[in-house]
Amino acid sequence: MNFEKQDIISIHDFSKQELLFILKTAKLMEKKLNPNLLKDKILATLFFEPSTRTRLSFMSAMEQLGGKLMGFATAKMTSIKKGETLWDTIKMVEAYADVIVIRHPLEGSARLAAEASSKPIINAGDGANQHPTQTMLDLYTIQKVKGKLDNLHIGLLGDLKYGRTVHSLVTALSHFNPIFYFIAPQALQMPQTYLDELKEKKIKFFTASNLLKVSKKLDILYVTRIQKERFADPVEYEKYKGVYKLDTSLLPNIKKDLKIMHPLPRVNEIDPSLDATDHAVYFEQAANGIPVRKALLALVLGKV
Ligand code: CP
Repeated sequence: MNFEKQDIISIHDFSKQELLFILKTAKLMEKKLNPNLLKDKILATLFFEPSTRTRLSFMSAMEQLGGKLMGFATAKMTSIKKGETLWDTIKMVEAYADVIVIRHPLEGSARLAAEASSKPIINAGDGANQHPTQTMLDLYTIQKVKGKLDNLHIGLLGDLKYGRTVHSLVTALSHFNPIFYFIAPQALQMPQTYLDELKEKKIKFFTASNLLKVSKKLDILYVTRIQKERFADPVEYEKYKGVYKLDTSLLPNIKKDLKIMHPLPRVNEIDPSLDATDHAVYFEQAANGIPVRKALLALVLGKV
């Protein structure tokens, strides 16, 4: 399989075989250090929205493979502030770097960047739309902690309307015969377009607002925060911000081998008292960003 010069914009662009190949490559990256693999290659990280994990893990992955870094963590210090367009910004950066990672608040911005650039573009989150590299590390984590991806009962809880990680994840897991449980207040339920996609693929799903109604069935519980920055009306956010707070009182109501995931950052939806339990895998999940992003950088730069 060859991913050289390929953009990574949406999980919809990847087949099951391609996803499995990326996971296999990530596993190799985790096993073997390749300190010179991307020597003389430059990664540009263009972050128009805040990030801790995605930006730093891409930077760390590039450094670990011997590559070089440039970029910005906020658009405030760039010529965007003078009115430069995203298109023109990308036209400049493609001359300075070999691969570009972009996070931007507008849905479709990564696709636009890919049209502007002859260098590979990696989407690190475009508004409430997609976060494909998060999904790849989520799959990698599930495969590691459950030993498989197929036939799992997957609960997705929290802000399913605005949470881009759950949108990408539902599409990717649909290749593996899951049963989904969408647990959210009605107003923050999974958008209809994703439900229609599942119906078309004949994937079973249930919706609920009360976690305890379905918690005993779950193999994976994927928790998301309420996405404050995507609410047009702050009063609406106040209504939902504390709607789910998981703590040790959940333990009698879950399977012994349930794994709790979260793309992070968490706000108050998972109490730290759960961190020390065998259920919590969210920090391991964040650490898995390194092998997965190493694999993606090496693949799009034609080095594996
Ligand atoms: N999971 C994730 O995208 O985290 P950051 O916003 O910190 O990058």
